[in-house]
Amino acid sequence: MTFGIDDLPVRDELRGKSPYGAPQLDVPVRLNTNENPYPLPDALVERIAERVREAARDLNRYPDRDAVELRTKLAEYLTNTSGHPLDVRNVWAANGSNEVIQQLLQTFGGPGRTAIGFEPSYSMHGLIARGTGTGWISGPRHEDFTIDVPAAKKAIAGHRPDVVFVTTPNNPTGNAVPAETVLALYEAAQAAKPSMVVVDEAYIEFSHGASLLPLLDGRPNLVVSRTMSKAFGAAGLRLGYLAAHPAVVDAVQLVRLPYHLSAVTQATALAALEHTDTLLKYVEQLKTERDRLVAELRAIGYEVTESDANFVQFGRFTDSHATWRKILDRGVLVRDNGVPGWLRVTAGTPEENDAFLDAVREVKKEQHT
Ligand SMILES: Cc1ncc(COP(=O)(O)O)c(C=O)c1O
Repeated sequence: MTFGIDDLPVRDELRGKSPYGAPQLDVPVRLNTNENPYPLPDALVERIAERVREAARDLNRYPDRDAVELRTKLAEYLTNTSGHPLDVRNVWAANGSNEVIQQLLQTFGGPGRTAIGFEPSYSMHGLIARGTGTGWISGPRHEDFTIDVPAAKKAIAGHRPDVVFVTTPNNPTGNAVPAETVLALYEAAQAAKPSMVVVDEAYIEFSHGASLLPLLDGRPNLVVSRTMSKAFGAAGLRLGYLAAHPAVVDAVQLVRLPYHLSAVTQATALAALEHTDTLLKYVEQLKTERDRLVAELRAIGYEVTESDANFVQFGRFTDSHATWRKILDRGVLVRDNGVPGWLRVTAGTPEENDAFLDAVREVKKEQHT
């Protein structure tokens, strides 16, 4: 017998668990991790090289611990796109929004505390909760994957969680959450504890509707988290950020590691933000492709959840994993998120989406023969 994890004195709650991660398989068409399929434009690659070259000279020094220039630019981006005025004091950045969420749970969760999410939703919320010793509560949704507001309010009142997660547009289902729902849950969370409400807007740039950033006004216990991994097409950069009351930004600094955001990351993100218009140009294209996927999947005869994101949830399958495998056998990797009866496909380039649609057409035909 080989020595393994269970032979180590690891924390009890980690025993028997597997690490998070979508399969990174080498197949012709990869539509499984909600990435943007377009490589960065040459002009931006050049600008990143320039910015990183400048930063490289100073790598003997620690980076700006507070990432002031980057946070200022992120605040400008949020203000310009939402119309809701924010400045550097309202914004905090980290290595991906996963790290932002981790810092929030380290600050507001932790041993003896709990967080709630309405599932199915982004599974890392629960996993990061576990990693930070925060108890996890799985809240309810309706059959159509919208949040069941009366049941959610009841769960909040009953469990009195310290952190409430709302993902909009939701991953993996794709549907956006109306502002009234977030407001109702915020009120319930304040009455119960009060607790922090984290609105995860990782996919908001793809939404038909507006960002919920204006809700921050007068709500110091509300946090909106964002990422450059999706709309900005920079998943490899690892840059996530949040917008909130300045007190929240001060609070997360109590748990962040000193110099957590490298000078190279800060320089690269600043270069990307100089090219916001070019990068976001692809968003419109991807929204058109997303809408095409929804329409064509329905035409083929699949059920599709309304999508405000760069991915589409489709079904229903008696054995979704078997269907996932059949699509993979045709060279297309989609995601089985473990939602019984459903699979998720990311909107890719028109050619990738055509390959996916051909594959699922074949699978459908096979099921009828
Ligand atoms: C809803 C949601 N939030 C956050 C993230 C994390 O993104 P990142 O850490 O790349 O910023 C993802 C990634 O897929 C996501 O789907």
